[in-house]
Amino acid sequence: MSNPVLIAAELRDLLGDDPVPGHPVEWIPASVPTPTGNYVAIVPLLSRWIGGEQLKGLPDLRIVANCAVGVDNIDLVAAEMRRLIVTNTPDVLTEATADLTWALILAVARRLKEGLQLIAEDGWTGWHPMQLLGLEMRGATLGIVGAGRIGQAVGRRAVAFGMRVIYADRVRRPEFEAEVDAIRQDLAGLLAAADVVSIHVPASTGTRGMFAERRLAQMKEGALLINTSRGEIVRESALIAALERGRLAGAGLDVYADEPVVPPALVRHPRVVTLPHLGSATTRARSGMATLAARNVRAVLAGEPPLTPVVAG
Ligand code: GLV
Repeated sequence: MSNPVLIAAELRDLLGDDPVPGHPVEWIPASVPTPTGNYVAIVPLLSRWIGGEQLKGLPDLRIVANCAVGVDNIDLVAAEMRRLIVTNTPDVLTEATADLTWALILAVARRLKEGLQLIAEDGWTGWHPMQLLGLEMRGATLGIVGAGRIGQAVGRRAVAFGMRVIYADRVRRPEFEAEVDAIRQDLAGLLAAADVVSIHVPASTGTRGMFAERRLAQMKEGALLINTSRGEIVRESALIAALERGRLAGAGLDVYADEPVVPPALVRHPRVVTLPHLGSATTRARSGMATLAARNVRAVLAGEPPLTPVVAG
């Protein structure tokens, strides 16, 4: 009998009972610690930490096929030292995440949370010319921090809204610039100019805490901050302070530093929309992610190259 594989139990409905033919599957729920044993592959959710300690208990492992595009739940250095293959799930979730980012941009810019509350609390007395005035998209500037696949997909949608698009990235993105007339700026310049700042960098040692007091203070007075990337990139206490001072007019958040903990000050704030990490939550994207993770496992166990490697092994 071939060695078994470990797969997140929450993916079973998307993958069926035999996603890696020839290898028995042990389905592990998110609440269960990573087992030790002779498993040759693991497909974790993004909430499962795969560090040196976990890898030590999996001596036969050949691939960590993360069911996410972000790989910050995996100790990549430890994986490289073990010559493991690490894969992620790019592309299949790009459009879904860009859609959700836009749901947040529009919700915050047009103050949907306050409008919903007004009606839910029976406080609406009728149309008023000064009621819940928000930011109009046409002519406003969208600042994209990290113009990778998702950042670019968010930028493409901005064209239809008549926004000016600027971006900050380590590298120039000439095709993106040509497609949406985007202009590259350094981060300080972007923060000073953008009415809406949308974060799309991955979590890494270089980006954790990137948006703390100093960067938030560089943002335009009354700007909006949107984060559908990773919570650790924004220091939540600094964001709360900037919102409470009125320095920022609002925020749209899908991710948090210590998920599933969402700071109550953010949940309560009338101009902050908080979602439970729904970026890729469409039927198509989630099915694409699970399928791609399983295809990576099948390829590697068959001795073929992985489809979407992050660490090539
Ligand atoms: C979701 O956050 C992902 O990284 O896929």
